Amino acid sequence: MPTASHITSLIKSHFEKDDLRFTTICLQIAAHEAKNGHKTLADDIQKIVDRSKQIRPVLRPINRDLEGLVLETYPLHKLSDLIVPRQLKERVERVISEYLQVDKLRRHNLENRRKILLSGNPGTGKTMTASIIAAELNLPFYTILMDKMVTKFMGETSAKLRQIFELINVRKGVYLFDEFDAIGSHRSSENDVGEMRRVLNSFLQFIEHDTSESLIIAATNNLGLLDQALFRRFDDVLHYYLPSSQEILLLLKNRLAGFEGEMNFKSLLPLLEGLSHAEISQACLDAIKETVLSDKEKVEKEILVKMIENRKAAYISFNVI
Ligand SMILES: Nc1ncnc2c1ncn2[C@@H]1O[C@H](COP(=O)(O)OP(=O)(O)OP(=O)(O)O)[C@@H](O)[C@H]1O
Ligand SMILES: [Mg+2]
Repeated sequence: MPTASHITSLIKSHFEKDDLRFTTICLQIAAHEAKNGHKTLADDIQKIVDRSKQIRPVLRPINRDLEGLVLETYPLHKLSDLIVPRQLKERVERVISEYLQVDKLRRHNLENRRKILLSGNPGTGKTMTASIIAAELNLPFYTILMDKMVTKFMGETSAKLRQIFELINVRKGVYLFDEFDAIGSHRSSENDVGEMRRVLNSFLQFIEHDTSESLIIAATNNLGLLDQALFRRFDDVLHYYLPSSQEILLLLKNRLAGFEGEMNFKSLLPLLEGLSHAEISQACLDAIKETVLSDKEKVEKEILVKMIENRKAAYISFNVI
């Protein structure tokens, strides 16, 4: 824990708007924590300070026509938060390292991989991966709401896509075309089928012609809905799966850190198999909340089991409907 004098100095420097002093105290706390063996916390503090030093572009308003269709954020996720098989993590790392070394590649007439398709079960880390890439590269993160585009701008989607690709060209960032399959779910009439085809075809053309410096990431729950022709336009296709037993154990450890008590996580495995990372994370969060609200310090197994069962019940009844 930081000392009392660290805390009071932090508060003081904040109100006196003394950024330099604030940063110095943060670094003192990091050093103090490292000395006490809390290396991860020390590294985390150091990383936040490093990131804040880099000059960030001021958030500019997005083109009016795209308001509500494109969200701009600066996520703070870390690659170490992502729990996926090693091979998958390496491929995410490759996207990051090729971007960072693009000059080296260009000297040999090579391009970094920057058009990526993410596919897999809901809640397994696709959106998280895209936001991690943005955070690790210190780039703004833009999410394009495909679902809204199709429902709200039926008939105008190709024009909207053109505007989005113009934005991609002029504003360097990580662009996530999230939930592609949402387009598929609106195929209720013949007209809608035609509209969806047009959207996909426009997207194919735009992505093919894009020579910007931005990273373009598309995510889908349902590869089957997408045309094979789409895959060829991407530099890489990454597949996401439900967590393995080892990954579930790691997720529990991370999510319950500080609240885990003496619990034997392995005994929970049969209950957790088949749930996604997102569902397990949510159950842990629910259990922590319940623990805090009942003035306890550690999550008890019964509470966690109850929260997992609640999640499962919600999931099952949703599937039955
Ligand atoms: N692989 C993972 N490792 C660690 N946490 C994860 C992982 N996948 C999901 N989570 C947790 O679940 C949350 C939701 O995950 P995310 O939005 O990335 O899922 P998704 O694959 O995009 O799902 P969807 O297909 O429904 O959009 C994350 O913010 C994170 O807290
Ligand atoms: Mg998602």
